[in-house]
Amino acid sequence: MKKEFKRTLVTCALPYANGPVHIGHLAGVYVPADIYVRYLRMKGEDVLFICGSDEHGVPITIKARQQGCTPQDIVDKYHRIIKDSFTGLGINFDIYGRTSSAVHHANASEFFRKLYDEGKFITKESEQYYDPEAKTFLADRYIVGTCPKCGNEGAYGDQCEKCGSTLSPEELINPRSKLSGAEPIKKKTTHWYLPLDKYESWLSEWILQGHKEWRSNVYGQCKSWIDGGLQPRAVSRDLDWGVPVPVEGAEGKVLYVWFDAPIGYISNTQELLPQSWKKWWKSEDTKLVHFIGKDNIVFHCIVFPSMLKAYGDYILPDNVPANEFLNLEGDKISTSRNWAVWAHEYLEDFPGKQDVLRYVLTANAPETKDNDFSWKDFQARNNSELVAIFGNFVNRAIVLTHKYFDGKVPARGELLDEDREALAQIPALRASMEANLNEYKFREALKDAMGIARVGNKYISDTEPWKVAKTDMARTATILNVSLQICADLAIAFEPFTPFAAERLRDMLGVGLEAGTDHRNGEAVTENTYREGECAALHTIPSTAAVTLRWDMLGGDDLLPEGHAIAEAQLLFAKIEDEQIDAQLARLDRIRAEKEAEAKAEAARQVVPQKEECTFEDFDKMDIRTATVLEAERVPKTDKLLKLTIDTGIDRRTIVSGIAEFYSPEDMLGKQICILANLKPRTIRGIESKGMILMARQGDGTMRFITPQEVLCNGAQIG
Ligand code: MF3
Ligand code: ZN
Repeated sequence: MKKEFKRTLVTCALPYANGPVHIGHLAGVYVPADIYVRYLRMKGEDVLFICGSDEHGVPITIKARQQGCTPQDIVDKYHRIIKDSFTGLGINFDIYGRTSSAVHHANASEFFRKLYDEGKFITKESEQYYDPEAKTFLADRYIVGTCPKCGNEGAYGDQCEKCGSTLSPEELINPRSKLSGAEPIKKKTTHWYLPLDKYESWLSEWILQGHKEWRSNVYGQCKSWIDGGLQPRAVSRDLDWGVPVPVEGAEGKVLYVWFDAPIGYISNTQELLPQSWKKWWKSEDTKLVHFIGKDNIVFHCIVFPSMLKAYGDYILPDNVPANEFLNLEGDKISTSRNWAVWAHEYLEDFPGKQDVLRYVLTANAPETKDNDFSWKDFQARNNSELVAIFGNFVNRAIVLTHKYFDGKVPARGELLDEDREALAQIPALRASMEANLNEYKFREALKDAMGIARVGNKYISDTEPWKVAKTDMARTATILNVSLQICADLAIAFEPFTPFAAERLRDMLGVGLEAGTDHRNGEAVTENTYREGECAALHTIPSTAAVTLRWDMLGGDDLLPEGHAIAEAQLLFAKIEDEQIDAQLARLDRIRAEKEAEAKAEAARQVVPQKEECTFEDFDKMDIRTATVLEAERVPKTDKLLKLTIDTGIDRRTIVSGIAEFYSPEDMLGKQICILANLKPRTIRGIESKGMILMARQGDGTMRFITPQEVLCNGAQIG
């Protein structure tokens, strides 16, 4: 049976405040959540939209150390940048809090303490790496050493970024502390664990039986975790940045970041609504929805619910619509490699084009599989969808209304089949859009909205009011009346997806919009302004207009009354030119080239391990000498071989050498080199080769011949 809810609490994963947000975050979490919230608000539902920065964890302390500042400095900086990016993109949380706040520290402490007092944790002693010089335990990230799999000397205790293997600090060869360079020692430490194994059958019942409707990627991950058997999870760490463990004798220990961060959703709600927060978290008629990326599934579906269950009286998520990943130009987005489009940079590079990004990220949302963002696709979707269909239709309808009817909605006469057919499609598209939005299928919902624009654009192209106007003004009036009704539909339908354009469109049409919003005048609701059920009350988004649109008018045929005055046409969407796209592609090319050059230089520095021991006698068998190249030519039909005629001091002879990739015949002429003279002759491509040219091979595979520091006589023996 479907549950009846009275209100919806929407949370978005709290971004780590150690870097800006990029398009992968936006597409995966924040844009879909914002669409969902805007949609519910337009329907007058009671919604609360919660987010904030995740300000604890080891990576933040590492970044602070690298930059010679405090972790607080780091989180202050990125909290600002991230918060401004969201606002800039029209993603309006009711509160964007932070886990370093006093409210959160108190709340997370209390949460831990209750579970502790009630014996919900177990303790375990384990051996952890410890830095004897810095006198502190070391998180895995703070230990570096040589990767056992690929030989990279800068591998971390949890991962080698070179070959991508997951490691444990024990596996590192020659481990060192990042803090002091000292060799870490093992030391005993005690931590608290949440025994997830005890929640296994409950989780199985709740998710595997009770939530079969969850997205298959989410359900599948939960199933494999549960089927694989759950283990107790540590909820504390030896670290000095975080929420201190509120237990005597726990000095130097903090709550594990994945324990405190999700509690941050609750803390941020408390900060916003100190009196009424419980209604949102502890009442069965609240629908809780977590928007997250796929790497967060286990924490939101298994760990956090178990914490809430252990605490008691909290509600659990009704759904967790996690997305897969978005790639950029075919490669995985990577913060450390700067392979990303950063939200704050986009806002600077494309001022006024927030909607284009929102549109493209939704159209390509990685809902069921990883997806790709490319700048060419971004440009194409803008130019051939937003501009050519949506914008073009609206522009024609409005310009013609001014041209023929003085900017007033003209009277509608008898409808013809073509009018009725166009109008009839809209309620069906609305129904499909609602069904899709209710099921978190935002790409499909956007297609439905765009479907309305397609209907309008086709209608006005087919009916050609600019031609009809030459002979029949009454028919022209009807066509433009119908067109303007469809424009008004678009001003409703696109509000969740492209809110800036929807607002411009409403301004052109001279209409307002009714939507429940906690952001009257851009201010978040506070305890003083929020009253029970008030998020549900519909408010008019400020407008002096005589006509106000509502969600339930979408698909009706009388949104704009006859005689209603509309404003002059303004540009809804502008074409994006090649230069702008080329500039973005050039930036990415530069990053790619830099990384490739670095990788090459790094590879060239790689040294192969020493060969096995040999004796002096082994070595002494080899007759190595100086010699000079007299003639050089390519061996026909090969890419790699040169045929060289050599003066060895003893004789003139032919050596065939595989160096044509690195040297042309001209390069070799007259060069003094070193050869192995007594190598047993071999026939290569029908040429007898007597001896071998000595070459040095570098890590990247390139080869260089060895030449004496000054010219010597040929045949000088080396050894
Ligand atoms: N900071 C985490 C990440 O970016 C998400 C934390 S979500 C919360 O992956 F639930 F823990 F808050
Ligand atoms: Zn490696």
